[in-house]
Amino acid sequence: MNKWVKISLSVLLVILIIFIISITILKIFSSKTKEEEKDKSAYNLTSVNVMKELDLYEEINNHEYSKTVEVLLESNNFKKEYLNYYYDIEYKNITNFSTIINRLLDKNYNSEEINYITTNISDNINIILNMDYINILAYKDITNFDISKIERYLSYQEENQNYDLATIVTYVNIGLDKEGYSEYTTYTTEEALNDLTILVNKYHKLPDDYEPNDLVALSYNSGYTYTLRREAATAYEELVSAALLDNVIIYPFSAYRSYNTQNKLYNNYVARDGVKAADTYSARPGFSEHQLGLAIDVRSNTLLDNLTEKDYEWMLSNSYEYGFIVRYPKGCQHITQFMEEPWHLRYLGVELATKVHNSGLTYDEYYDLYMK
Ligand code: DAL
Ligand code: ZN
Repeated sequence: MNKWVKISLSVLLVILIIFIISITILKIFSSKTKEEEKDKSAYNLTSVNVMKELDLYEEINNHEYSKTVEVLLESNNFKKEYLNYYYDIEYKNITNFSTIINRLLDKNYNSEEINYITTNISDNINIILNMDYINILAYKDITNFDISKIERYLSYQEENQNYDLATIVTYVNIGLDKEGYSEYTTYTTEEALNDLTILVNKYHKLPDDYEPNDLVALSYNSGYTYTLRREAATAYEELVSAALLDNVIIYPFSAYRSYNTQNKLYNNYVARDGVKAADTYSARPGFSEHQLGLAIDVRSNTLLDNLTEKDYEWMLSNSYEYGFIVRYPKGCQHITQFMEEPWHLRYLGVELATKVHNSGLTYDEYYDLYMK
């Protein structure tokens, strides 16, 4: 071979080798940067691949890591237009998290609202998903808010725009959006026997055959013997003595009443005044606190069936110290469903009666807010 041909071939070979080496180095280098990119990202490989496909690698990685973004990317539910919301949504380990998040965003809930929903009502998200957007954060500080009653709150609010939301919630929880007696729960005999604090009203009934097992006679006897459950009877005697020290002289005129007695009484009132009127001052059988053996009607010694104004004032200010509340106060008929009854006392025990007295609430409201 000619010397120059040899040299040329060698040069060509060297060039070829250099070329191959360069290509290899370049390849290694570029794969290294890929790996570095992955290492640099806080996200897992699947989500990194998805964000690259979507051309969002830079944008997402320049932002603080978000588990929510990662889960959305991984799940194939990621929607580009929601990215800025995803960042602020806390990840929650709940079934179908990514689908739920998107559905809530579709309904126009913002990140703060979604965080509230997934934190506080995660068991009932379906209720939210099956209705139009609601201002859920308005209920945030309402401790007795019950998501299962949301539809009732909304329609009661429509009809009562003068009430604030806390009132709406409490009134609906009591049952006031429905006619009294139209829907009610019935206590078991055990519940009634063992719990001296149970709420009895037009939405909470006693079993027809319920009778307390510890009725005792009060010391006052007018030819008729008045009875109350033992604890209430003892407390009542103390109340009478304390009142007497303040020159307030009271007598009972009705205490424990059986279902049958209440039945006769109520029917007599209906015959006399009609159902509508009777329902404002007499409970239907099964719905009276008198059947509990924990309610007593007291009168002033100068009156047949009521308290004088002065005696009523005393009762309003002092009865709780002996465990009794005035159960149907003035101006509360829309809550208690009974007109003002100065004479009707309900025994709750000193501790609870004091709390109810200090709250300024009816027992119906207090019960919903603090006893459930
Ligand atoms: N008068 C009250 C409401 C009752 O009948 O129990
Ligand atoms: Zn009464």
